[in-house]
Amino acid sequence: MPQPDLEKKTVLTLGQKKARGEKITAVTAYDYPTARLASLAGIDLILVGDSLGMVLQGHNNTLKVTMDEMVYHTSLVARAQPRSLLVSDMPYQSFHINPEKSVENACRCVKEGGAEAVKLEGGRKRFKVIEAMLNAEIPVLAHLGLTPQSVHQLGGFKVQGKLHEKAREIFQDALALEKLGVFAIVLESIPQELAQKITDSLSIPTIGIGAGRFCDGQVLVFPDLVGFTNIYLPKFVRQYADTHALWLQALQKYISDVQNGDFPNEEESYHLKRDIEEFLK
Ligand code: KIV
Repeated sequence: MPQPDLEKKTVLTLGQKKARGEKITAVTAYDYPTARLASLAGIDLILVGDSLGMVLQGHNNTLKVTMDEMVYHTSLVARAQPRSLLVSDMPYQSFHINPEKSVENACRCVKEGGAEAVKLEGGRKRFKVIEAMLNAEIPVLAHLGLTPQSVHQLGGFKVQGKLHEKAREIFQDALALEKLGVFAIVLESIPQELAQKITDSLSIPTIGIGAGRFCDGQVLVFPDLVGFTNIYLPKFVRQYADTHALWLQALQKYISDVQNGDFPNEEESYHLKRDIEEFLK
């Protein structure tokens, strides 16, 4: 096992890693214990993703997640004071109205939540908003390819950029986003060859999810990575543990221990002190 890097990670760390040819690691976290784990393990970037709408709240897309929820979950993660760079996702509608309102919302992630950067989905349609956030001193992580907040426009969670025209559009957006000043770009569910071409053409890092192995880094949704649920997972997820089975086993053992009187035992119970016992007589 590699030794975890104990340095505080910043937006600069990611660029330096790319320059050195070192891979960047990222996971989502939505709470304090997960953030502590990710930081302890040496993860470079924690994303408080709006994927929480699906994996925590049980919705079938991310569209219902609110600004208040993102601020709340970001603050739980920030409380762990992770060494990982802490990025908060901008939820649907929080950056679609106008640049002023979008900056206000991004500032909430930083001031109330404790985020060190924000992520937002989309290419050319979002350039004005991204520029406004950068002008407000908020580092921006861009997100191209399958942008889950566009699920209805895309007709489902489908791989993007398989055809030349769309691939070219994603590529041009990536080049323009680097020029705008974003510090990295998430590439989601696009062909590996397109992700490689983008990665090779940029000096800022790419972080892939379902975008193949040539990206500068990878991101996975934490509950998927540890097998917390046993529901459908896309083909790009590698499940590093089956904790669903462990949780289930633990709960079933707890039920039987309570039912047969094995829990709690004497050591797990508090007892009166002798003098108090007398006092109560
Ligand atoms: O919301 C999220 O977790 C994300 C990652 C999958 C990149 O956007």
